[in-house]
Amino acid sequence: MERFPVTRASTSRYDSIDYGNLRFGRYFSDHMFQMDFENGSWGTPQIVPYAPMAIEPANLTFHYGQTVFEGLKAYLHPTGAVSMFRPGKNLERMTRSCRRLCIPDFPEDQVLEGMKQVIDLDRKFIPTEEGHSLYIRPFAFAMDNLLGVQESTRYRLLVITSPVAAYYPEGIKPVKLDVPGDYIRCARGGTGTAKTAANYAASLLPAKLARQAGYTQVLWLDADEHRYIEEVGTMNIFFVIGDEVVTPALSSGTILEGITRMTAIELLKDWGYTVHERRITIDEVCEAQSAGQLKEVFGTGTAAVISPVGEIHYMNQTMTINNFAIGEVGQRLYDEITGIQYGTREDTRGWNVMI
Ligand code: COI
Repeated sequence: MERFPVTRASTSRYDSIDYGNLRFGRYFSDHMFQMDFENGSWGTPQIVPYAPMAIEPANLTFHYGQTVFEGLKAYLHPTGAVSMFRPGKNLERMTRSCRRLCIPDFPEDQVLEGMKQVIDLDRKFIPTEEGHSLYIRPFAFAMDNLLGVQESTRYRLLVITSPVAAYYPEGIKPVKLDVPGDYIRCARGGTGTAKTAANYAASLLPAKLARQAGYTQVLWLDADEHRYIEEVGTMNIFFVIGDEVVTPALSSGTILEGITRMTAIELLKDWGYTVHERRITIDEVCEAQSAGQLKEVFGTGTAAVISPVGEIHYMNQTMTINNFAIGEVGQRLYDEITGIQYGTREDTRGWNVMI
């Protein structure tokens, strides 16, 4: 594909980045990919400096949240090569999110190419420390300025990148989850499978309350019966009960279709584990814990990678899982997935897309 036009940044942000204290999503690279939709079609893609944008106060995105996003990462291999992990899956999911939010289909091949070109241009921003990476954030949003509740006729699609450390301050150490009694993430027919701002906005208050009570995140139950486990909001969830690995089925239409989730299921099946995508209640988890059958709990996500869960709090019960240590299944998945991503294990399935 052709090189997209580039307007270079006049100064670099690189020297202002504290690579020794990176954390998640605090710093941004010099350039971003941009593509605008107007008069019924997407215009010429371009690469421009990462900089403040002029957006009118009446921009529809601020008022009614017509916006979607994705998250994926670029990894530096020991050879100096750089790869992204299954980026086509993120772009397919972004298209599904766009359709749910009435944002017009975008050319996935051009955005994939744009991601490659912008990462290549800002290659020096990719962190070298183990476990760190360049987080890639594609997103699209309304550009019409009006206060009627309606879909926009103009849109902007951007891809920004951010050198990052682990998402949770705990790193790969186990996190603590709280099951909120009063709140839900989304209901059937809502926007739960779309990666859209509203789902995350709705999670802020329950997540803040959970944090104040000493938990890292919340574990959501379904909206209808408040019994079935759904996801964590920043990651999907897996339980190892006896010899079975269980993760909530996507069929409810209220759970994000995680790409790390899909990868974990594929690997576990290849390795001969019994994996079931099915409905699972919080009571089943509590009973498995009482019976000594709850061996491991872990979350999966691009930002979270594989994140062991050491404690779950539900009503007046606190379950400590696997003595608050990462379990065998979670560790094996972490090692394999990060090994493939960072190029230290063979990528036999063709998941890496080289830059
Ligand atoms: C991701 O895992 O990439 C996410 O989008 C989760 C979170 C950072 C919003």
